[in-house]
Amino acid sequence: MPRTSRPGLALLALASFLAPACGASATAPDAGCPDLPLPQPPGLDPVIEARLDGQLAAMSLDEKIGLLHGTSLGAIDGLWPTAGLDRLGIPALQMTDGDRGVTAGPSTCFPVAQARGATFDRELERAIGEAIGAEAAARGANVLLAPTINVVRHPAWGRAQESYGEDPYQLGELGAAFVGGAQQHVIATAKHFCCNSIEDTRYDVSVELDERALREVYLPHFEKLVRDAHVGAVMTAYNRVDGVYASEQPHLVRAILKDEWGFPGFVMSDWVFGTHSAGPAVTAGLDVEMPYDLHFDELYKAVDRCEVSRAAVDDAVRRVLRTELAFGLDHPAPVDPSQIESAAHAALALRAARESIVLLRNQGKALPLDPAASSSIAVVGALAGVANLGDHGSSDVHPSRSVTPLAGIQARFGARVVAIDADTLDTATRAQVAAAGAAIVVVGLTAADEGENVPSPHQGDRATLALSAAHQALIAEVAAANPRTIVVIEGGSAVLTAPWIDRVAAVLMAWYPGQEGGTAIGELLAGDVAPSGRLPVAFPVAEADLPPFDHVSDAVTYGLFHGYRWLDRNGTAPAFPFGFGLSYGTVDYAGLALADDTVGRGEVVHAAIDLASVDRTGDEVVQLYVEPPPGGLDRAVRELRGFARVAVTPATTTRVTIDVPVADLARWDIATAAWVVDPGVYTVAVGRSEQDLPLRATFTVAP
Ligand code: BGC
Repeated sequence: MPRTSRPGLALLALASFLAPACGASATAPDAGCPDLPLPQPPGLDPVIEARLDGQLAAMSLDEKIGLLHGTSLGAIDGLWPTAGLDRLGIPALQMTDGDRGVTAGPSTCFPVAQARGATFDRELERAIGEAIGAEAAARGANVLLAPTINVVRHPAWGRAQESYGEDPYQLGELGAAFVGGAQQHVIATAKHFCCNSIEDTRYDVSVELDERALREVYLPHFEKLVRDAHVGAVMTAYNRVDGVYASEQPHLVRAILKDEWGFPGFVMSDWVFGTHSAGPAVTAGLDVEMPYDLHFDELYKAVDRCEVSRAAVDDAVRRVLRTELAFGLDHPAPVDPSQIESAAHAALALRAARESIVLLRNQGKALPLDPAASSSIAVVGALAGVANLGDHGSSDVHPSRSVTPLAGIQARFGARVVAIDADTLDTATRAQVAAAGAAIVVVGLTAADEGENVPSPHQGDRATLALSAAHQALIAEVAAANPRTIVVIEGGSAVLTAPWIDRVAAVLMAWYPGQEGGTAIGELLAGDVAPSGRLPVAFPVAEADLPPFDHVSDAVTYGLFHGYRWLDRNGTAPAFPFGFGLSYGTVDYAGLALADDTVGRGEVVHAAIDLASVDRTGDEVVQLYVEPPPGGLDRAVRELRGFARVAVTPATTTRVTIDVPVADLARWDIATAAWVVDPGVYTVAVGRSEQDLPLRATFTVAP
């Protein structure tokens, strides 16, 4: 399969878009094709379905097809519309992107989703979803093309920044929280369904995986958003899954998403290159082609040729209409422009930045810096003065204001700050660094290095997890001149720290921290806020410690293991484990109690943990992992099954409870094509990271 470049194909697409309509509606479709009704999702409202019956009966096939595709290659005022149908009062869909903020017009820019993954904060993510949804609605959108919940199978994936992390449970929890908030205002979209985790070959690569890996690793979070968060829309991925393009993969879209999970909403394609046919796609379960009918202009003929049933077309239309009604698109709330870039949303962006920054190292309590001291602070690096907000692909956001790291540090430390806006030192600046009480080096990645649609050799995927040679050299130079060197890293996912970390005193992983990121960095450095972010991906010591990132092959094989599961399986120590993050004090994990020693398959494991904060106030992210009974099938050593972000205060004990449904511990049994909870003794391990689990207890699942 030849590798495709998007700009080239975009021109082709444009030409076809501008070509005159083919007059497909001239012939009436053959009414003699087999036309069995499709199974309907459970729990539908009979009154609404009856209303939809009436609308469908009143429409011609042309009118129906007119509701099943976008109408513009480019966004119009930042929105991609569908047509709607005025005659019957059916509203148009208006879509905008929104992983880190609304892409239509100036909007609040939140930290990227990977940073928000580091907060492990469901309530915050719900509030962010609600804020982005409100700003989207204020821009006239009724569909938000977020959240992205693809597994970060490898941190070199250019769009890792748009997703929450590597763990399916965490992806589901945070994605569901976002949807719950966003859907107060708009229809949210779970994307990209599924197995989308490479940029370079994204339009064609076939992700090959067995049913077990699919069910246990690549689908649980989508199921969570469908079943529990009731997400209104799902976007299919560009790539193929087991050889078939995701948008026309009947096993994924029709059988699993719609029939098995009972998804009642609509499925749209990814943009332009995400649809490959009309008849097979609609038969497989694709409802809406975006952003225009490059293929669906053949849908009328496909019906005529019996390539797709009228029932499948009706079902697609019904899903769009049902979702519109469910979200009240027929009587939209008045647009509220005061939502856009409101002070409350800026405060939320600041809170998210504070909670997301991860303290990776703090030798000799180099941090926090004393705000009352008089020594100078050197802030070094060309990135320090840049609002580095993330990639320039479809999730790009343009806020009216943003605080750079330098501005945030200056705001907190004032005239003590000596700014050295360069990635190399000369004699004069080296002397400034040496004379300073501390040196803060800002390094990392930008939209030129990673993201979507990046004109780089790997189309936005990173060629290496290492920092650039220039940034490594800068760290070494500054560290040689000043023993209190603090490195602030920006970037979308894991980077290698091993080559240089021993030389520096402290390291903060700041991700792309959003428009208020600079303020949060200043506050954390000063100790106004205790660091509380935790890594949503494992940081390896070396590239070779992770599974290979194959961004060139036409087909790649995915399995049960990547990230921390892969490292554990191979007995390889990470540089920083999944869930890792230091703070400025310590919290003691005192006691773990399980309510029951033995539980049944339909029951819930109730765990209670006592946290005794020894010497700090702030947030602690308690993580609960479950290890399967020994001697069973090949499984991950342990998997995240619960977490809680809790506020702790000195001299008090905080009791945290975490519930784990036993059904969540099931594995997919290929032979019976069913979920199976193996009987036996499971271990619950609780602690500060996937590798720091001081509390352990066991429970038995009865045979
Ligand atoms: C991206 C989607 C995005 C769409 C519309 C595509 O290239 O993969 O995530 O929603 O464009 O901007």
